[in-house]
Amino acid sequence: MDTYQATVTSNIAFLKYWGKDSLEHQWPSGNSLSMTLSKACSVTKAAVIEGESDHITFAASSGLKKSASEDHKITAHLDRVRKELRVPHRFKIETHNTFPSSCGIASSASGFGALTLACVAASLQCDSLDLICSKGYARERLAHLARMGSGSASRSFFGGYVSWYRGQTPDKQSIKQEFTSEHMNLADLIVVLSSENKSVSSTQAHAAAPTSQLYAPRIAGLTERHKLMLEAIKTRDFSALGRLIEVDALEMHAVIMTSNPPINYWHEKTSSLVAWLRQMRQTGHFEAYATIDAGPNVHVICRPEDMNKIKQQISEHFSVETFIEDRVGAGPQIKRLGTLET
Ligand code: PMV
Repeated sequence: MDTYQATVTSNIAFLKYWGKDSLEHQWPSGNSLSMTLSKACSVTKAAVIEGESDHITFAASSGLKKSASEDHKITAHLDRVRKELRVPHRFKIETHNTFPSSCGIASSASGFGALTLACVAASLQCDSLDLICSKGYARERLAHLARMGSGSASRSFFGGYVSWYRGQTPDKQSIKQEFTSEHMNLADLIVVLSSENKSVSSTQAHAAAPTSQLYAPRIAGLTERHKLMLEAIKTRDFSALGRLIEVDALEMHAVIMTSNPPINYWHEKTSSLVAWLRQMRQTGHFEAYATIDAGPNVHVICRPEDMNKIKQQISEHFSVETFIEDRVGAGPQIKRLGTLET
């Protein structure tokens, strides 16, 4: 049997998924919307093997973490993939990331996305998404499967700008591409201030969200903000979109910080960078907007032509571990690697 390699890029949420109405169904409390990236990715190889157990090798930087709780999540996810495909076999898996994991660069999105896709490709022996689709597994079906491992992974199955709709009931959830990557060319300058693993997992923090007094008002406004964001992307109105992106990130972190017990993903440098960025915008130096996932690192959303200048200025003012210069991407890829030793 051949080995298949899935490359799945991460995505940065413009409208954040934060809080779940059902853990069992991985049912989010609201819609979310993201931009699929083109560089920050997980690369996962999978082959079908004989035997009783799966064999997984994690590279030092992997979108899937090596820890007891994560091991359990991964094993449960492989069982889910087997159930969905109705296959009994085990997998040999190798996975690595092109960026640091567990520090708010959505590594679980690309990690679970690539794990799902590689195992499906290896099971069906298919080297393209079209071929997989012709066997009854369209992208959206794969996205739903990956969503059960990590919610944000669902949006990485499409390129460009992607929505995950909550739906009226758990079975009415949907995931769809709203605009292709060509429609609007945006950049994401990821400013890695710290690549230390976060102290509270997003699973724990999602569960604490409803304890914040700010949670209900946030949920109440999400559908309208989603609509406004889609309109801004449609009309390529970067200023309108940027303002909404930044407000949504600040609002999500306000919920996180006011949960009980309170959680704080920000470092001192996170606040300084956000304040500085806003000042740069107000004083007309450049136009860029901050968004932050469950970690201390800042994603600076900007026009591609401004990225170098912004990077230069950030390096002059802050001590940065590393920058990742990314932009909107076209979505996942699969490759057949031939027969490797299994
Ligand atoms: O997919 P999870 O369970 O790791 O949740 C991550 C949620 C955020 O990245 C903070 C926001 C999002 O919509 O991606």
